[in-house]
Amino acid sequence: MEFTGVREKTLVIIKPDAIQRGLFGQITSRFEQKGLKLVGVKMTYLKQEILREHYVHIADKPFYPAVEKFMMSSPAIVQCWEGLDVVNTVRLITGITKAREAEAGSIRGDYAMSVACNVIHASDSIENAEKEVARFFAEGDIHDYDKTDYQHVYAEEERNK
Ligand code: PPS
Repeated sequence: MEFTGVREKTLVIIKPDAIQRGLFGQITSRFEQKGLKLVGVKMTYLKQEILREHYVHIADKPFYPAVEKFMMSSPAIVQCWEGLDVVNTVRLITGITKAREAEAGSIRGDYAMSVACNVIHASDSIENAEKEVARFFAEGDIHDYDKTDYQHVYAEEERNK
């Protein structure tokens, strides 16, 4: 899978709190309206094994068991978005982890009050995005297609990157 230029990809998890609160559509709209391209999506119950791998950097923290329980409390929706500088762009739209302090206008700033129930996960670097997309999607589940509005989303020299 290519992760350069307009082909850069990132992983978003719409967490169980967002599914339960009926925020899936509104959150997804933020990314669509920004001009990003959805190239993969699936609804799934996240299993303990994949969560341990995904959250390995917090696995020894006292709050980890609660994170795991929360992430398995109902289905989540995993998405792969594509676009120029998409990893950084999605992080900006997402807002900081501690949602109560997230900037108004960001997804967490507008929809969440918690550090754990913070409605979405977004990859924090290109390197992690590559690993995370591969973790949650089989290669055949990422779709390569032309998005017809790209000629108005990007300038020509940006499209050709
Ligand atoms: S950290 O603590 O610097 O490694 O934080 P971060 O890399 O942002 O990832 C933390 C993820 O764990 C979830 N979580 C918590 N973080 C900190 N403190 C508490 N109490 C806590 N509870 C849950 C947090 O939602 C982050 O999940 P993601 O999916 O990465 O947003």
